[in-house]
Amino acid sequence: MHYGGDYNPEQWPEEVWAEDVARMREAGVTMVSLGIFAWSRLQPAEGEFDFAWLDRVIDLLHEGGIAVDLATATASPPPWMHEAYPEILPVTADGVTLGPGSRQHYAPSSPIYRRLASELVTALAERYVNHPGVVMWHVNNEYGCHLHEDHSPAAQEAFRAWVEARYGTVEALNEAWGTAFWSQRYTAFSQVRTPAAAPYSHNPGQLLDFKRFTSDMLLECYLMEKEIILAAGATQPITTNFMGPFKPANYPQWAEHMDVVTDDAYPDPDEPESFRDAAFQRDLIRSMKPGVPWLLMEQVTGALNWRPTNAPKAPGQMAALSMQCIGRGADGVLFFQWRQSRAGAEKFHAAMLPHAGTGTRIWREVTALGAELAALPPLPAGTADARVALVMDWESWWAVESPDHPSNMLDYVAVLQRWYRALHRRHVMVDIVPPERVTVSDYSLVLAPALYLLRPEGAAALDAFVADGGHLLAGPFTDVVDERDAFLDGGFLTRLGAALGVSIDDFGALARPGAAGQGEAPLDGPFGTVTGTLLAEEVVLRGAAPVATFVTGRRDGDAALTEHAYGSGVGWYLATVPDEAGADAIAGWALERAGVAPVLAGLPATVEAAQRGNVVTVINHGDSDVTVALAGRDLLAGVQVTTVTLAPYGYALVERL
Ligand code: GAL
Repeated sequence: MHYGGDYNPEQWPEEVWAEDVARMREAGVTMVSLGIFAWSRLQPAEGEFDFAWLDRVIDLLHEGGIAVDLATATASPPPWMHEAYPEILPVTADGVTLGPGSRQHYAPSSPIYRRLASELVTALAERYVNHPGVVMWHVNNEYGCHLHEDHSPAAQEAFRAWVEARYGTVEALNEAWGTAFWSQRYTAFSQVRTPAAAPYSHNPGQLLDFKRFTSDMLLECYLMEKEIILAAGATQPITTNFMGPFKPANYPQWAEHMDVVTDDAYPDPDEPESFRDAAFQRDLIRSMKPGVPWLLMEQVTGALNWRPTNAPKAPGQMAALSMQCIGRGADGVLFFQWRQSRAGAEKFHAAMLPHAGTGTRIWREVTALGAELAALPPLPAGTADARVALVMDWESWWAVESPDHPSNMLDYVAVLQRWYRALHRRHVMVDIVPPERVTVSDYSLVLAPALYLLRPEGAAALDAFVADGGHLLAGPFTDVVDERDAFLDGGFLTRLGAALGVSIDDFGALARPGAAGQGEAPLDGPFGTVTGTLLAEEVVLRGAAPVATFVTGRRDGDAALTEHAYGSGVGWYLATVPDEAGADAIAGWALERAGVAPVLAGLPATVEAAQRGNVVTVINHGDSDVTVALAGRDLLAGVQVTTVTLAPYGYALVERL
């Protein structure tokens, strides 16, 4: 179990370092992410490096038994760089150059930025690759976090090259983007630009490719650094920290290039249900490398600084959220950051070692958690723990939130999280995967809401899943376009229609809450009467039978949820986006129909249960004590149990016999 945080010794005089190491040992710290924002300190001028101080810190940590996750420090270019090369600065869609004085002020596709970053990484890798204290490489930091797109001259050039490499000929590009529309036909790749400020809507194919390009540019930066580290002879795992459901980077694609997937997560302690969305994020990350433990690279011990208001974590909440990670497949939790900064934009951001020192609640909680993690035996990697998959696809996310749709109110992640919360309340383990990963040997029930863009392989996997005996709950606004964000011949649901036994005539957009027109679409089914929102699609039955029908409104009496026997499985199609209570009711019904059992039965909804191999983690997010029947070995207490009693924020990890 790794335990620790970002360590930024460059913010402190050297005398503090020895105290840091002593305190880290006291807190049970095993590893720190070192030097993430130290570029200006490591390289005071082009061609001039200063590693002496880093040598001393790494040695000090190593002597103290603290392992180093060594950062490549390329996330915040030093001031000399933009002075010499202002062209490395990124540009917004409105043409505003984003200047220095903050961080991440570089154009990811800039050849100059890439050259300078590679010089630093080469020097770092060659110097530390064989240091016994360096156990992992932390490439850059949160790629794209503050820079969701870039329209700099470097980006324009790189986008043209990217488009040319993807399509080969201008004719193929014109075909893919449908440029016959609005006189957008290109005659040379030199005419292609990023979708920056324009009088009206952009070409959707171009928008989608720009998203792909943006993710690819960031990934190229990562891969460039990774190659340099490997070329220097590294044998340590290499990673960069993800941010859960982060739209600009297609993480499932990136995960192939990570030796270990690492994640940063900051659930809002003011949101009573944020632990469920946190669990969604853990399961998303866990699903990216099945069977390989992941690492929580950043969380906060107490209050943040970057929300409009920054509530502290309640006593015990930090440990409970940490154990949520462990229970859902993490082999360690780290924080931003080790020692609270004295100056700078994040000085109010809580840390492991608070500004107010060691006589604080946070310090007591930090040391207590360190001791608990140290006492845990190695846990199973955890595979095939989930019988339910929630389909999440980045390309579909990009396309479904493109403008000019029947409803422009659809928030893809919010829809997925709503379904996830319903499953979480029912203590069911869920994998969150792209459609291509769906197989009947892994899953009994698959939910595919708003899977607007579907690739042929994904469509084939979902079709086979149903044919082979799975239960698929799809829709609405699913299987609408191909990879170009264009319609296919034959209407909608052209690939999944066979399994679902329906087609769609109209998407039936509903009015925004408070606006004129029908805003809600109630439906009646075996799960009671629930509310649909955003869309009430006009479904045509082509072999399927209605399970639920719309009541009142423009679709009154029409099918709202359909069922179709296909091969040895069942295809359900839902023609609306249910609200929270609706998703809850429908998920409960679908789980029962698909015969999916919870990790533990009979728990209150505020108690979370997760499975990792034969280890069950239960966490009480409610405000009163709960006793849970759970037989096995309590791994924290080190005793056999048949029940565990959990105080608020209490948790137990029990190895089932
Ligand atoms: C992360 C970042 C850290 C720190 C933290 C604050 O996005 O990687 O450097 O800024 O947020 O919560």
